[in-house]
Parts: sequence; C-alpha cells; structure tokens
Amino acid sequence: MGFLKNLFGGSPRTITTEPAGLKFVVQPGQSVLEAALGQGIAFPHSCTVGTCGSCKCKLVSGKIREIANFAYVLSAEELQGGIILACQAAPRSDLILEVAGLSDRHLTPPGDFTGTVIETVDLTHDIKRVAIALDRPLAFDAGQYAHLSAEGVWGARAYSFANPPRSGGCETLTFFIRHVPGGLFTDLVFSGGLTGKTLKVHGPLGNFWLRESRAPLIAIAGGSGLAPLVSMLQDAAAGNVGRPCLVLFGARAQADLYAHEEFAALGQQWNGAFKFVPVLSDEPVNTGWAGERGLVTARIAAHAKDYAGSDAEAYLCGPPPMIDAALPLLRELGLRDDNLHFDKFLDGSHGLHRQE
Ligand code: FES
Repeated sequence: MGFLKNLFGGSPRTITTEPAGLKFVVQPGQSVLEAALGQGIAFPHSCTVGTCGSCKCKLVSGKIREIANFAYVLSAEELQGGIILACQAAPRSDLILEVAGLSDRHLTPPGDFTGTVIETVDLTHDIKRVAIALDRPLAFDAGQYAHLSAEGVWGARAYSFANPPRSGGCETLTFFIRHVPGGLFTDLVFSGGLTGKTLKVHGPLGNFWLRESRAPLIAIAGGSGLAPLVSMLQDAAAGNVGRPCLVLFGARAQADLYAHEEFAALGQQWNGAFKFVPVLSDEPVNTGWAGERGLVTARIAAHAKDYAGSDAEAYLCGPPPMIDAALPLLRELGLRDDNLHFDKFLDGSHGLHRQE
C-alpha cells in the first residue's frame, strides 16, 4: 500500500495555519506555498524558488520533505527551531504551521499566460517601459509582479506590474525594465529584438499590495522601483483613497529620472496631501539641479518626521542596500514592523524579488 502511495505521489494533506486558523489542502506534487497561492491564500512569499526566505514559517506539527535544502537560506538556529520554507516544503502528513503576517485577503491565484511584446518606450537611457498584450485578461493586486520567461531561451525574470489593475483583469500589461548589460533578457529588450515576440507570463505573485488603512503612506523607491508604486498609487487615486502620501525617489542623476507625468497627474488627482521628492546621489555640480541631493535614505527623517510615532505605513521598492538602510530609519521614526512593506530587487534588473 505504501508502495502504491509513493507510486501515485501520496495523498492530499491538510494544512492548518496558526494563529489565523486558515486551512488549505496540498495535492501530491505541490509545495505548501504553491497550494496556498493556488487557493488564493495570501501566504507570505516572494521568489517562490527557495532563495529569499519570505515564506519562512514554523512547523508546529507534522512531517515534510525538503524539495530543496533549507540550509541555503535558513540559519542553524532557525532550522533547530523548526522553521521551514513553504515554497520548498512538500507535506508528508497533515501539518500545523505557524505563519506570521498571514493576511485574510484573497489573492488571484497565479496562472500561465501567453504575451506578445507590443511596444517598448525609453524612459531613461537604461530603463524602458515594455507593454505586453496577453492572450486573456490577468487580474492582480497593484504592487504584485509576474515572471516573464521564454522556454529554452531564458528563465523566469520577475517584474512588477507598472500599470494599475482593472476590474475583470488587464489584457495589456506594462513593466519598467532596466538594462543589465550582458543579461540575455534585457539585452534583447534593449536591442529591440523582443518586440513582436511571444513570451510566457506567470502571475500574479507577491505580497506587496496596499493594505487597507486611513494612515499616512510613505513610499520610497530606487532605480526601476517606481513600477509597483506607480501601479499602487494610480489604483489608490482612482479609488479616492484619502491618505496623506509622501513619495521619495532615489536616483543617480537627472538622466535617471522618469515617470514625471505619472507623478504630476497623481499630485493633481490625489485626494489629500501628496508630495513627490526626487533625490539625486551623483548629479554633477553646476547642472542647474535645484532639487535634493544625497542618498534618498538620508532624506527620510527630514520628510517623514511629521509621521513619527504614527500608524503610517511604508512601502519600499528598490535595491537591497537602499531598503536595508531605510528600514532602521523608519523604525527610529516609530513605524511598526507590521507597517513596513518592501520589495527588494535581488539583482540589478529586478530579476528576483524579496517582499514583505
Ligand atoms: S524562499 Fe520561499 S518564497 Fe522565497
């Protein structure tokens, strides 16, 4: 009997989460995360491939099989304490898992779509807006992302949706794609070789969405990290979200600034205080730049001081050093950990995410 179970891949297993009390079923051959997302459960995650650690949770009871070795991501203390990676765990029995930050929000289960690149537009010298038409509408939450891939050509690259969602889903998606010289995918995008070509779009993925609240919003982006914030803020503006909003955007020089029109329109449309502050770290002197200079993180305290000790929420998207520098500064201002949400680029192209 055991032989037959192994042959046919075992039995469905029931997962119970604590403290939320959510239950879901994992079919044979699925990881815990795959099953949760397939059932619309907002299980914390990001990369989905065992590299970011966002899906960490505690095995309270039951047995699992490691699909990939957890030790690449988890510390010895975490392993000893029963921490597992949901994206790399296949249950061998029913499980009870302790999952921090599990929201009761229903997310659209990810699916596979076929897309055709219909337009690429220069935003800066090394960032393009890429529009992809899909074979059918894709529904997502503003702030989420999709994997783009071409079988046998390049593997999955993660890019945030830069357009706001629409009821019934979007038939055309836009992404901000930064050129990484020597990178197969972005070299193709920047040589024009992708226009008219088809690719696979898998999504939506990610836990980076605007939480419901009346509290002030602090959004901080670096590089091509404006994409999910544009999507999120345009969606919020259309929904008449009346929350004070501060956006800090870190770039190297004026040549790296983009999305001016989007933020000008948001400033007009926003129901409440809205401030967009670009901060340049390497703008040469004598260029006439009258705006702020330095690292964007060095400007957080000055601009966000009015929100110190409040219920303000922060949404950060960009390179890891920016996010790692910003988080302690936001905590110093008194923002709570559960109000800090971020989407880290784990490579220069926004090719991998870590979100919380
Ligand atoms: S390690 Fe599981 S989602 Fe990244």
